[in-house]
Amino acid sequence: MSGKLWDGRFSEKTGEIMEDFSASIHFDQRLWPHDIKGSLAHCRMLADAGVISKEEFEAISKGLKKIEKELRSGSFKFENRLEDIHMHIESRLFEVAGKPALKLHTARSRNDQVALDIRMWLKDEIMGAARRLLRLQKTIARMARDHMDAILPGYTHLQRAQPVLFSHHLMAYVEMFSRDFDRMMDVYKRTDVMPLGAAALAGTTYPIDRAAVADMLGFSKVSENSMDSVSDRDFTMEFLSAAAICMTHLSRMSEEIILWSSAEFDFIGLPDAFSTGSSIMPQKKNPDAAELVRGKTGRVFGSLTALLTLMKSLPLAYNRDMQEDKEPLFDAADTLKACLNIYIRMLPHMEIKKDHMRAAAQKGFLNATDLADYLAQKGMPFRKAHDCAGRMVAKAISQKKELHEMNLEEMRAFSPLISPDIFEALSLKTMIKRRSSYGGTAPENVSAAVDRALARIEGLLEPHDPGHGNGV
Ligand code: ARG
Repeated sequence: MSGKLWDGRFSEKTGEIMEDFSASIHFDQRLWPHDIKGSLAHCRMLADAGVISKEEFEAISKGLKKIEKELRSGSFKFENRLEDIHMHIESRLFEVAGKPALKLHTARSRNDQVALDIRMWLKDEIMGAARRLLRLQKTIARMARDHMDAILPGYTHLQRAQPVLFSHHLMAYVEMFSRDFDRMMDVYKRTDVMPLGAAALAGTTYPIDRAAVADMLGFSKVSENSMDSVSDRDFTMEFLSAAAICMTHLSRMSEEIILWSSAEFDFIGLPDAFSTGSSIMPQKKNPDAAELVRGKTGRVFGSLTALLTLMKSLPLAYNRDMQEDKEPLFDAADTLKACLNIYIRMLPHMEIKKDHMRAAAQKGFLNATDLADYLAQKGMPFRKAHDCAGRMVAKAISQKKELHEMNLEEMRAFSPLISPDIFEALSLKTMIKRRSSYGGTAPENVSAAVDRALARIEGLLEPHDPGHGNGV
């Protein structure tokens, strides 16, 4: 064989500038474990189908295992001349296994090979993301379980609205991350389809057994249409979209952590190990982890946009443009992984400043709705009750007081329906307890939701998950 695996019809050498331009080895080398696995399954199938001999199969598989060791140990040499990971491995196979290596690519093309590798790689990534999403949910649900007595203002428009349990607020994120988990599992179904055997685009003349390859590689389905098999990347876009939505959730949580750790809110304290100082302002302790997650969200959105734009208008079937799918995909998967990991590790070490939360919940007329409800329950039509409570708020503001700081006489000047039980009705405890509609912030609701979530997560996490229990 001369220099390249495809240069038979060429009379001139590829220019070095072109080799450098078209090389993808610097990023697609991470696909090597999947490329080797795929090739092993492919050559076993070729041998079973009688396309290559038993001896050829032995030589190829022995060679591939040797190459696998070289790749694992880092002694494998990469060079742009060989473009991508597929050609590197095949070309090295010729060096280590000799002639039988020339038969490995029978009934296969790099087009279906790369589609296979990405699907195998992405299946692993999706399962990793799903596992991390479960660990994150578990971390948050445990915090909710451990801080059931913390009450903070719930906000709308970032204005104090009504008091809620801190645990209720946390459990909102468990809901979001549980949908992210579901989305990942859903993407998995459409990624779990085996494309090898499509060859370049039209299928192959060899008597291959695609179902056997799918079986060996742990795919539950074989792709239906050879042209679709080599040109479809929608599963990558689905993953990126699930990742982007998940990053949106992470960035909303980040924003709250950033706000809550500011002197203005002071609801939480951040662990030193996850914060940094300022090189000029000695007093500073910055919420960098949360800021970086918030910032990295943009990268993942960018990757989704890149893939959508890349694939838009491409004619069937394979086009070299599609080599550009990998960097955004890898970057997004790495970013998502890093962001989930940092929160799994950081959240349990956050200091929860219950007293500050409670003090904030007691200021800003968060009991005005409850005052209106109180009047309505005593017989005043709700619209009138709303108006009466509004006037009482205005009065309290003018006196620089909270509603519950007015005395009974002052209150009764607004309505004779008000009696001494008003103070109980306007207390944080009562306000929270009375919001017992399903999904509301009443403690029984929240602790039942926490129990349900922990049981669900426990059922989904594998018992021997290495990160099980210690949050990593
Ligand atoms: N490196 C290529 C990619 O990532 C592999 C497929 C190349 N196929 C081809 N016909 N040039 O898409």
